[in-house]
Amino acid sequence: MRTVHSLKELRTILRGYRLQGKTIGLVPTMGNLHEGHISLVRKAAEASDIVVTSIFVNPMQFGAGEDLDKYPRTLLADQEKLDAAGNTLVFAPSAEEVYPEGLAGQTQVVVPDVSDGHCGASRPGHFEGVATVVTMLFNMVQPDLAVFGEKDFQQLAVIRKLARDLMIPVEIIGAPTVREDDGLAKSSRNGYLSEKERQLAPAVYKTLQSAAEKLTNGQTDIETIATEAKDSLAQAGLRPDYFNIVNSVTLKPAQSEDKELTLLVAAFLGTTRLIDNLSITR
Ligand code: PAJ
Repeated sequence: MRTVHSLKELRTILRGYRLQGKTIGLVPTMGNLHEGHISLVRKAAEASDIVVTSIFVNPMQFGAGEDLDKYPRTLLADQEKLDAAGNTLVFAPSAEEVYPEGLAGQTQVVVPDVSDGHCGASRPGHFEGVATVVTMLFNMVQPDLAVFGEKDFQQLAVIRKLARDLMIPVEIIGAPTVREDDGLAKSSRNGYLSEKERQLAPAVYKTLQSAAEKLTNGQTDIETIATEAKDSLAQAGLRPDYFNIVNSVTLKPAQSEDKELTLLVAAFLGTTRLIDNLSITR
């Protein structure tokens, strides 16, 4: 497995693979890889000849006061895990390589509607940062397919829409959320939790499950279910940011006729913000 840091080198290597008729799968990440990320790499390896994993902590998607500076950078350990998972090439550019003229004045990709609400409301500019860097990665790698986790449900919706709207010839594949044994969704940010916070964290998934059960049992008062979910998070020692029950495709508030629903949650444990989601059919 090779690691390259420059776009020039990346393009030279990929040109060679393309000439051999190989298909290319892309897995964009910010590194500090865990089993969730690795499951995406495995999925990409099943569906394409070559797998490129990008590792780039994208400054454009972090707000002021967020964890850009303390975000864990663990390239050596990441390379070992990727090698074992059948990854072909690691693309780990510097911020200067991706944004040679800096962030100010950089062209941005704005994805309307699906970026609104939920994490888009709590983190202004976040999805513009994600959409911009993912579009750039699509142009840098020109993959046949790209794999993203359902863990970041709204992000996946944003990326599906941008690929469609901008006619980017890439197949977007979603992959299920990988969890710890106690249900906590794996996340690089779990590493920020103290031992005590880590014990409280499974409440996020438990609350999703109990709200989902109410819906599948025929309860229809969405607002009451969401309020009860926020109360139960608060009782468990978390500070709910939002708990929204939405149409799985539009991500707009669920209507009585909607059958495919997704429950989206974000909650703080201390200063760490955890997100998770669960989709149901009723
Ligand atoms: P990052 O948080 O590193 O996540 C990279 C990919 O791994 C995303 O597609 C995310 O949904 C997926 N992922 C994270 N935890 C997962 C889990 N427990 N199970 C399954 N998949 C999981 O998301 C980003 O980076 C960035 O926003 C990025 C898309 C790379 C753009 O900068």
